[in-house]
Amino acid sequence: MNNTSYTYQFIVMTLIIVSSCQLKTSNENNNIVSLKSLSNNLDFNSKIDSILELMTLDEKLGQLSQLNNKGDQRIDSVTIDAIRKGEVGSLLVNRRNFYSFEERDFYQKLAVEESRLGIPIIFGHDVIHGFKTIFPTSLAQSSTWSPDLVEKGAEIAAKEASAQGVDWAFAPMVDVARDPRWGRIAEGYGEDPYLNAVFGAAVVRGFQGSDMSSPNRVAACMKHYVGYGAAVGGRGKQFTDISDRTLHEVYLPPFKAGIDQGALTVMTAFNDINGIPATAYTYGIREVLKQNYKFKGFVVSDWDAVKHLLWHGIAADTTEAAQLALNAGVDMEMKTIFYKKLKDALKDGTVSIEYIDDAVRRVLYVKFKLGLFDRPYLEKDNTKEIFLSDAHRKEARKMAAASMVLLQNNNNILPVISPKAKSIAVVGAFAKETDVMGWWKSTGQFEDVITAFDGIKSNAPKGINITDKVTASTDYIIACLGEPSKFFGESRNRADIRIPTDQVDFLKSLQKYNKPIVLVVFNGRPLDLTSVTDFAHSILLAWHPGTETGNALADVLFGQHNPYAKLTASFPRSVAQLPTYYSRRNSGNPQGNKYIDLSGEPLFPFGFGLSYTTFEYSLLEIEKNKIPVNGELKLSAMITNTGSKEGTEVVQLYVRDLVGSTTRPIKELKGFQKVNLKPGESKKVSFTLSTKELSVLNKDFEPVVESGGYHVWIATNSTKGLQGKFEIIE
Ligand code: GLC
Repeated sequence: MNNTSYTYQFIVMTLIIVSSCQLKTSNENNNIVSLKSLSNNLDFNSKIDSILELMTLDEKLGQLSQLNNKGDQRIDSVTIDAIRKGEVGSLLVNRRNFYSFEERDFYQKLAVEESRLGIPIIFGHDVIHGFKTIFPTSLAQSSTWSPDLVEKGAEIAAKEASAQGVDWAFAPMVDVARDPRWGRIAEGYGEDPYLNAVFGAAVVRGFQGSDMSSPNRVAACMKHYVGYGAAVGGRGKQFTDISDRTLHEVYLPPFKAGIDQGALTVMTAFNDINGIPATAYTYGIREVLKQNYKFKGFVVSDWDAVKHLLWHGIAADTTEAAQLALNAGVDMEMKTIFYKKLKDALKDGTVSIEYIDDAVRRVLYVKFKLGLFDRPYLEKDNTKEIFLSDAHRKEARKMAAASMVLLQNNNNILPVISPKAKSIAVVGAFAKETDVMGWWKSTGQFEDVITAFDGIKSNAPKGINITDKVTASTDYIIACLGEPSKFFGESRNRADIRIPTDQVDFLKSLQKYNKPIVLVVFNGRPLDLTSVTDFAHSILLAWHPGTETGNALADVLFGQHNPYAKLTASFPRSVAQLPTYYSRRNSGNPQGNKYIDLSGEPLFPFGFGLSYTTFEYSLLEIEKNKIPVNGELKLSAMITNTGSKEGTEVVQLYVRDLVGSTTRPIKELKGFQKVNLKPGESKKVSFTLSTKELSVLNKDFEPVVESGGYHVWIATNSTKGLQGKFEIIE
């Protein structure tokens, strides 16, 4: 829809509202209670108590509703009327261009100045990896093993989003995922609970900062609670069968890390957990999240997820669906308005006013924490100097380069150095593709993307000619292939996780030139790359790098950035091998982890990634081989740059409990550090691991630090490192 029609729409909308306002009876104006008087001299809880006492049941249930615009339209007059009645707690924008600056405050003014109590709306939007400046997809971001970069990216996304009126970002998604057929594996931080916890917490810090009522901050939302990544067959939204142990040791820890970091909201998932839909999951929400994790914010359902309870087959009608969700602890309903039916549920005693009041209290708490009562409006429109600023582009470029994983580099043909290359052909389906911002591109615009070709051309060292065709004078071929953004994301699950055949055929057609070939893969999910490894000298995983794609790619290809990224999700040899992940349990037949016709090991394992230099690990030292149950393990190794270029190595720490009260994974990541080394330089990398970080759930699900023998590795990836042994003694 073009801007003219938007303007027309907006004028029409304004006329509707103005005319309906004139019809408003005078006494509604007189009833408006100025919350300003409440919000100056009381602490949060007292303010909330005071407001709660004033609220009608309709106003309370209204605060528990999140409505949205219809497709690309503005919100309709019914919603506008509900806002004026104080019956809309939140508005969700699920379209490519957020509300205009004026429009956002137009709706907010209806709530704050026209409704009886003037409770501000909280505006929500999917800010997953950028708002206007789009960063790499989340799985790519985790490959940087750099929480500081990820936090900075979230901070920039919050700054851009809040400048346009977003108060609440529906991220981070911390669904541990171990099945690349699942389209949304691209949206989280990989297969490992520890890394999802580290990066989820980093995003919360970036979004919320230390004072979330300051401008430039947004509320975070830990999602999707819980176990969405375990959907059977990688078919998202399908049922899951998650053991209690896997639930507590794999899927819950990232959420606890986000709550401990102060995340203000949580979103429930579409799946069931062993027969209980996440949006009716009383145990997970009321007992684990609100009681055990002491979560103070509010829980929102996912889109239509309250209605889905009918489809799950546990609610006979929408009133029962609303009652199940609220009683389970879902405080706000996204998109549907079944919570209005809680009036009936209240009458027939299937919900209590205490639960309703608690839900409203939580929503008001978040609005106070965000400063919405004191600062409901956008002060000034500074989007022009904020959006896509040089500083933001620079950070996006840095993160994109840092996320690119070097999987193969035969004959060290990378980096492309000018004496060896006078002419480079940049070809393939993704060479000039601007749709490389992933699935959740928010308000990112294709025209703002630097393509692979443009970036390589504009950054090529002097004397190197860049062409978009292979010719007789071509020295290097950069083949840009991969999976389009429509192949991954929500409801985009694939049974075949290879690069599309036509692109592989194209790659094979390049062999006739007998030139060095660099394959740059644009992907959302881990792919089966077995069909291409023999047809390229080097393979660089670019993911969907976002707005700064071409510049970041050039930085890596020409060596300004020496890759240090490492995989955070295993790349299988075949879809037939799934699921495959590093921290599997040993089983009674360790040799059995294979097929008669295929290995059980992935093609590229968790933690793997190459550099333009090489590193050697030596001198593993464990300070004490016997440590008390409440002690700490201190160990170190010497890392040496044995190559000719300066580089960074992600040094990983893994442990294994050799004899547990239950069967334990063969390896668990417990820490990592990045070390930068000049050629020939060595540095000692030390880790200190407290035994409480080795705590597990015994067979009675009690957290314990188990005595006995452990293996420990300081490693370059999950399959290769220096192994040592220690013992925890009672
Ligand atoms: C979608 C997604 C969720 C998103 C929400 C709002 O269905 O599952 O991640 O935040 O709806 O767009």
